Formats: sequence, C-alpha cells, structure tokens
Amino acid sequence: VTARFPVRSRILHWLSAVLVFAALLIGFAMVNSVGNYAALLAVHMTIGVAILVIVIVRIVNRFTAKPPNWPPTIGTLEGKIISNSERLMYLLLVAQPLVGWTMVSATGRSAVVFGLHLPSIAPFDEGLFFALRQTHSVLAYLLVVVIAAHVSGVLLHTVALRDRVLSRMMFGLRRARSSSGPP
Ligand code: HEM
Repeated sequence: VTARFPVRSRILHWLSAVLVFAALLIGFAMVNSVGNYAALLAVHMTIGVAILVIVIVRIVNRFTAKPPNWPPTIGTLEGKIISNSERLMYLLLVAQPLVGWTMVSATGRSAVVFGLHLPSIAPFDEGLFFALRQTHSVLAYLLVVVIAAHVSGVLLHTVALRDRVLSRMMFGLRRARSSSGPP
C-alpha cells in the first residue's frame, strides 16, 4: 500500500493547486480583457490574498506534518532537485501575493479582498509600481515554469516508472500493489 501525505497536507495541496491555477488564469485573462477588467481584478486579488494565507499555513504544516518517505525510484540527486523546487514554489507563492499587494498599494488605491479594503503597505510611487508590476509578471512566468516541471515530474514517475507517486497526494480507496505489476 502506498504511503500518503497526512490528510491535512493533501487538502492544503489541492486547495492551493486550484487557487494558484485560477490566479494565474485570471491574471493573464484580465490584463488582456477590456470589459471585465475590474471584476476580474477583484476576484484575482481575493484569490491571491487567500493563497498567501494558505501558503503560510502550508509552511507551518510542512514543519509539523511529516511527509512519507520517497520511493526508491527517486535517487539522491533527483531528491535534491525536488526539495529545492518545492522550496522555490513556497517562496514564489509567498512573494507573488506580497508583490501584488505592494504594487496595488503603490498606485495609491487599496487592495480589496472579499469586499474589505486591506491596509496600504507601500507609499504612492509610480516608479515602485512599475518595478513591482514587472516583477509580478516575471514571478508569474517563473511559477508557470516550476509548476509545469512539478506536474511533469509527477507524471513521469506515475506513468513511466509506475511508482505511484501521485497516489501519495490522492484521496479515496487505497489499492494494494498488484503482485504481477512492475516492482
Ligand atoms: C499567487 C498569487 C498570484 C498570482 C499567481 C498572480 C498572477 C498574476 C498574473 C499571471 C498576472 C498577469 C501578469 C501579466 O500578464 O503581465 C497578474 C497581474 C496582476 N495582479 Fe496578480 N497574482 C497573484 C496575486 C495577486 C495579489 C494578491 C494582488 C493584489 C492584492 C494582485 C494584483 C495584480 C494586479 C494589480 C495585476 C496587474 C493588472 C494590470 O496590470 O492591469 N495579484 N497577476
């Protein structure tokens, strides 16, 4: 039977996966949208700040909920690459919402989340806005790249090596490993 992450880690993982996907999709859609820009931005900011909160909870959870050991199909070097890319995702997911919030603050308006006005965390500053606006795009593209690598790695293991890496993060019935299957 495949070892799994603790249930709270799995819930936090899929919750952030859905929200990050939505934040990226809405982010790219709204900058190309004329008519729905304001509504999309409101949803984007709310999802983005929710991600910040969830990722802080996830980081605390990462130190308090032990992940299962890696399967033997993951070697030392690959293990290091995986750990570092996971750290990078945590870092990007803390930085991106903070950059977004600071950038909106620098326009002189306040970020609105669930209809509530957040405090401004930066002075009104055009130069600061432009720098952070660029940073927000760069971090978004970096996120897309790291997430694509993350998903590709999991698929490579699950489909090609058949070591059930994906099951570690899944819900539902546990199936015993078939004795006729690959080792
Ligand atoms: C993990 C969370 C977030 C992700 C993944 C994300 C992603 C994105 C993406 C992909 C874009 C479009 C970038 C481009 O094409 O140049 C964008 C733009 C933007 N985001 Fe975020 N974002 C996040 C959090 C936030 C937060 C928390 C705020 C504000 C409170 C925010 C405010 C904005 C604004 C104002 C824009 C630019 C709109 C424009 O220039 O017209 N974002 N974001």
